[in-house]
Amino acid sequence: MRLETGLSLRCLCAVVLMVFGRVATEESADTHLRMLSTPSNLNVLEGATVLLPCNVLNLDRNVRIWKHLPSRILFSGTVSVSRDAQIELVNGSSLRISALTPQYAGEYVCLISHHLALNVTHRIRVLVPPSIHPDPHSGKVIVRKGNPASFSCKASGVPKPVVTWSYEHGDSQSSQLPSGVRQVNGGTELQISSVDVHHAGTYRCSAENDVGEPASTAFNFTVLYAPDLTVKPEWVHGDEGATVEFACTSHSAPPSHVTWMKGDPKHNTSLHSGDRIRMRDKLTPPTTMESWLKLQRLRKEDLGTYACVAKNTVGLSYKMVEISGCEIVQTATRREAISEKQQPLMLRTSPVTQE
Ligand SMILES: *[C@@H]1O[C@H](CO)[C@@H](O)[C@H](O)[C@H]1NC(C)=O
Ligand SMILES: *[C@@H]1O[C@H](CO)[C@@H](O)[C@H](O)[C@H]1NC(C)=O
Ligand SMILES: *[C@@H]1O[C@H](CO)[C@@H](O)[C@H](O)[C@H]1NC(C)=O
Ligand SMILES: *[C@@H]1O[C@H](CO)[C@@H](O)[C@H](O)[C@H]1NC(C)=O
Repeated sequence: MRLETGLSLRCLCAVVLMVFGRVATEESADTHLRMLSTPSNLNVLEGATVLLPCNVLNLDRNVRIWKHLPSRILFSGTVSVSRDAQIELVNGSSLRISALTPQYAGEYVCLISHHLALNVTHRIRVLVPPSIHPDPHSGKVIVRKGNPASFSCKASGVPKPVVTWSYEHGDSQSSQLPSGVRQVNGGTELQISSVDVHHAGTYRCSAENDVGEPASTAFNFTVLYAPDLTVKPEWVHGDEGATVEFACTSHSAPPSHVTWMKGDPKHNTSLHSGDRIRMRDKLTPPTTMESWLKLQRLRKEDLGTYACVAKNTVGLSYKMVEISGCEIVQTATRREAISEKQQPLMLRTSPVTQE
């Protein structure tokens, strides 16, 4: 009853207004088409579902048109134009988008046919947790000393993730990268112009954007280099019948194979373990090989040069020593080691390195 009265009053008003040729008044606004929904900005996680309202007053015979800007028409009235199974119309008005992926990001506008200026726009940003695409993909970088190297962590996600690096070597871990390592391409790539031994280790990159968990990956960086040798002792006194022993330590990557030779190593006269000659090796991964040469019951013919020869896939190095039978100037320190009965033996070292 009351409703009818209202309606008839309004009709009357309209008639009166028409009669007097007036413009629309507030009273008549209720019959006008109005957009009730307001625009929104939505930040939603990938995979989520969103509801975009488009409530309209006095729609009459007009229809809603939903568009994904710039030009993809989704619905015209209740007809699905895009036929996208992830986009539905709810209650004939709101748009529901499920299982959001980044391709659904952007602006959605609800337009009213013939009244395009009465529209509402919803903006969707699809947040994506960080992910990393390492290059090289294997996470293994093997480079010879002196060569350039680079490896990168391209990170994706919304918003754009920030990439940070840390360095681990042995037991130590640091956000400080070794000297000579440069960060380029917005920090996503590491470059080394000339690789050195101290660059070896594990480089970890981590990408963070405050959405979900940070992503991280590691590169194992191996530096290959030719053997670097030390012999110890550098010289020793030995007497006929005595025992002398030398240690040779080789640092290299990969670890080297160590042999001992008598004389110039170019003549390739390898020593073999036997009655008076003993050799043993000890490998301490990843880079150290130690080798010992023991000469027992020393004879005159043992005098001369010896070489510790270390070889790996990168190169070969050797260090020579000499056992000499010459009389030596007896110094206070040396005299202690010299037997009174026998001819003193002197050992000289003459290091040679060849790469
Ligand atoms: C659809 O309409 C029904 C009944 O009017 C209401 O209960 C429901 O909340 C509406 N759904 C949406 C998504 O607006
Ligand atoms: C939405 O309405 C505004 C004016 O309110 C207009 O400038 C804009 O062009 C309309 N959008 C579309 C997509 O028609
Ligand atoms: C990297 O090196 C560490 C330690 O040497 C090892 O535990 C890890 O498995 C290596 N990772 C790869 C990808 O080779
Ligand atoms: C040295 O001898 C080893 C075997 O004892 C042999 O494999 C190698 O080819 C030789 N090298 C040269 C330069 O003669």
